[in-house]
Amino acid sequence: MNHTSAVYPISKVREQFPALRRKYHEKPAAYFDGPGGSQTVNTAIQAITRYMENGGANLHGAFPSSVETEHIIRESKEAVGDFLNVDPREVAFGANMTTLAFAIARALSRNWEKGDEIVVTELDHRANVDPWLSAAEERGLTIRWIPVDPEKLTLDLSDLDTIINRKTRLVAAGLASNAVGTIAPIQTIAARARKAGALMAVDAVHAAPHIPIDRDELDADILLCSSYKFFGPHIGIAAIRENIFKDLQPYKLEPAPSCYPDKLETGTQNHEGIAGIQPAIAFFEQMGTGSTRRERIVSGIRQIEEHEGALADMIRDALGGMEPINLYQAGADIQKTPTIAFTVEGYEPREVCRILAEQHAIFIADGDFYATTLADKLGINRSGGWIRAGLAPYNSEEEAERFIAAIQSL
Ligand SMILES: Cc1ncc(COP(=O)(O)O)c(C=O)c1O
Repeated sequence: MNHTSAVYPISKVREQFPALRRKYHEKPAAYFDGPGGSQTVNTAIQAITRYMENGGANLHGAFPSSVETEHIIRESKEAVGDFLNVDPREVAFGANMTTLAFAIARALSRNWEKGDEIVVTELDHRANVDPWLSAAEERGLTIRWIPVDPEKLTLDLSDLDTIINRKTRLVAAGLASNAVGTIAPIQTIAARARKAGALMAVDAVHAAPHIPIDRDELDADILLCSSYKFFGPHIGIAAIRENIFKDLQPYKLEPAPSCYPDKLETGTQNHEGIAGIQPAIAFFEQMGTGSTRRERIVSGIRQIEEHEGALADMIRDALGGMEPINLYQAGADIQKTPTIAFTVEGYEPREVCRILAEQHAIFIADGDFYATTLADKLGINRSGGWIRAGLAPYNSEEEAERFIAAIQSL
């Protein structure tokens, strides 16, 4: 049966990812670990190589390779601006999301005092929890948690008005769970944060490859993502609202620029990697239509969303019908990314992943994926965590069928 849209250009998409040519034990490798890191689109690989072959340089020079480097960084920031609907001047790059989150948390909390509160969630990746916990420890702040309902796998907002209150300085929440795929009601949380006069930091790392992101629609003050999750290189991205960025005091070298966004970009950046960000975003753009880049990006992501969603439904339906499989997913009424966490009774998750790799050339990951608070609450860590099937635009229906047959064969 044909589950995915007839118009989705799967061959054209797959041709753009050289890693799909890889064979393992003479079978074509099928990548089911998009949430751990997507494969890189060929235009990004070429841009990275081109930058290094042409002669790279540091910034602020009067010679061509230095001027070109600044131009490349500007181009990538403009692309991120359209990707997240932010001003390019609000965009900073860094080693990865985690490093940026630590730097921002440390900088913001310099002005917070004992008695102030920070809110985090039980559904989040620890990268959007621990930087805030560390800041709280350093500054004597109180941490409050938005709980996750372990049955529903959604955030429980019933006490939101108490959890976020007039002492709250910042609320940190993830747009989508990298473990179970639940998309969180960020707008509701952000509205409450706004009312309480608190800042809103949104981790969009897992959501970014799957759903269009509009910083203003989310009402986020700080938005974080990572380009290796959306077909680019290993670089973290932070978009910080201008009025907050202006006053932010990150730890930096005294003579380094104190203007934003430069002040957050400590040391020399990964210029060759940054060269790959604009092409990674152009991958979404070429999938869509519209008169502006933003419109084309959003329309491209919508097309990808439909394709991935159809494959995810196909896998969820098949796995749901298998007796020894436990699926960890929110109800049908909850929007989810194409990320399917499950366990197989009688098997350690690691063993399943090994069998899938060795016998079927299916590359898929196991563990708690740093969604440790949720994993602990579900008691799943005691048995090795989940197996996580994460889909990407380049996954085909044939691969999904192969995956289902491989699970069946267990
Ligand atoms: C939801 C989420 N947040 C944060 C991170 C951390 O991102 P980075 O590896 O760029 O530090 C990840 C990485 O898997 C993630 O999935």
